[in-house]
Amino acid sequence: MNATAAADGFAEAYGRAPEGTWSAPGRVNLIGEFTDYNEGFVLPTTLPFSTRASGARRGDGRVRVASAQNPGGAGEATEAIELSALRPGSVPGWPGYALGVLWSLEESGHAIGGVDVYVDSEVPMGAGLSSSAALECSVALAMRELFGLELSLEQLALVAQRAENEFVGVPCGIMDQMASLLCVPGHALLLDARSLEHRQVPFALGEAGLVLMVLDTRVRHELGSSAYADRRSACERAAAALGVRALRDVDPADLDEAEARLGDRELARRVRHVVTEGARVLEVARLLEQSRVAEVGPVLTVGHRSLRDDFEVSCVELDVAVDAALGAGALGARMVGGGFGGSAIALVPSERADAVGAAVTGAFSAAGLRSPRVFAAAPESALRER
Ligand code: GLA
Repeated sequence: MNATAAADGFAEAYGRAPEGTWSAPGRVNLIGEFTDYNEGFVLPTTLPFSTRASGARRGDGRVRVASAQNPGGAGEATEAIELSALRPGSVPGWPGYALGVLWSLEESGHAIGGVDVYVDSEVPMGAGLSSSAALECSVALAMRELFGLELSLEQLALVAQRAENEFVGVPCGIMDQMASLLCVPGHALLLDARSLEHRQVPFALGEAGLVLMVLDTRVRHELGSSAYADRRSACERAAAALGVRALRDVDPADLDEAEARLGDRELARRVRHVVTEGARVLEVARLLEQSRVAEVGPVLTVGHRSLRDDFEVSCVELDVAVDAALGAGALGARMVGGGFGGSAIALVPSERADAVGAAVTGAFSAAGLRSPRVFAAAPESALRER
C-alpha cells in the first residue's frame, strides 16, 4: 500500500481528488510498559507499517470519514455531520478515533473547518502495534496542514491522545501518539512521558547481526480494556498513598520501603513493576547507546516476567510465544502494549530467526491455539512475513 492507494480510495469514496495524503506508522515498544501514564520513561521503535489519511476541505463545516478497512463496508463514508455536533462518546467504532481528533483540535482552540477524510492502514489492528495512534496521528497531520495549524509534533501527539482519552473514552498514556509522530527508522525513542523530552537512541540491529521479531498472537481478550483502566487507577491510588505525584517519583532504591508502606500485596506488586520497568528503560537505552544490543535481550525477558507476575497483564498466548522464542534461541522476549493478547517481541540472532518463527508457530499449534503471525520488524522496513 502507498499514498496513491489512499488517494485513489479517497477519489472513489468522494468523487473528487484529495488535497494531500499524510502518513503515520505503528510502533513496537522495546521496553517501558505501563510507565507512560505513571509519568516515567518509554523506549518505542517504529514499524514498517503505516496508516495513510487523504483529505480535502469542504466549505460547509461538515465532516465525513471513510476507511479501506471499514468492517461494515470498505471505503464507505460516514454520514456528513456538522463539526460542531461532534460530542465525546457519540461516534462508536473506528470513526471515533478519526473524528475525535477533529473534536480535540476544536476543543484545544485550533479552529478547523469541514473536511472529507479517507484512511487506509497496513498496521495490524488489535495487535498491540498502535493502530489507533497511527490512525489518530495520520488524521492529525492532515488537519495540521490542511488548516495551516501552528502545532508541533508534541502538541499534535497531545491532541491525538486527548481524542482517545476524552472522545473515544480510552484512558491511554502518551507513548503511542509520540512514537507514531516522532520515531525514526533505525532508532528507538527515549521519551520522558512527564516532560515529553525525548531523544533518538541508535538501534543498530543489523550491525549487531540481530533481528527484532514481532509475534502477533492474533488474540485480544475481552478483559483487556477494563484491566487497563483498573491498573491505571491502581497506580494512581498507590501514588496517592505514597504521597508522590506519580509512581515515576518512587526511587528504585526505596522500593522495598514503599511496598512495606503500602501494605496491600497486590498494589505493592503493581508498584514493583512500574518502578523496576522504569529502571529497565534507562538500562536498555544505555546499552543501545554503547552498541551493546545483544545485552538488551535478558532485560526484555525480565520485563516480561514483571508484566506477567507483578502487573498481571499477560495471557497464555503471550507466555507461550515468549517461552517458545526463548527456547529456540531468542536472546530475550516479552509481551508489548496493553496486554491480554496482541503481540510479543523477541530479539533474535538473524540466523535463528527462522527457527524462532517455526518454534513459536509449532508451540501455538501444540497448545491448540490459532496460528500466530510472525514477522521481522527490521528498522529498514525489511518486512518479512511468514
Ligand atoms: C497501550 C497504551 C499506552 C501504554 C501501553 C502500555 O498501548 O495506549 O499508552 O500505556 O498500553 O505500556
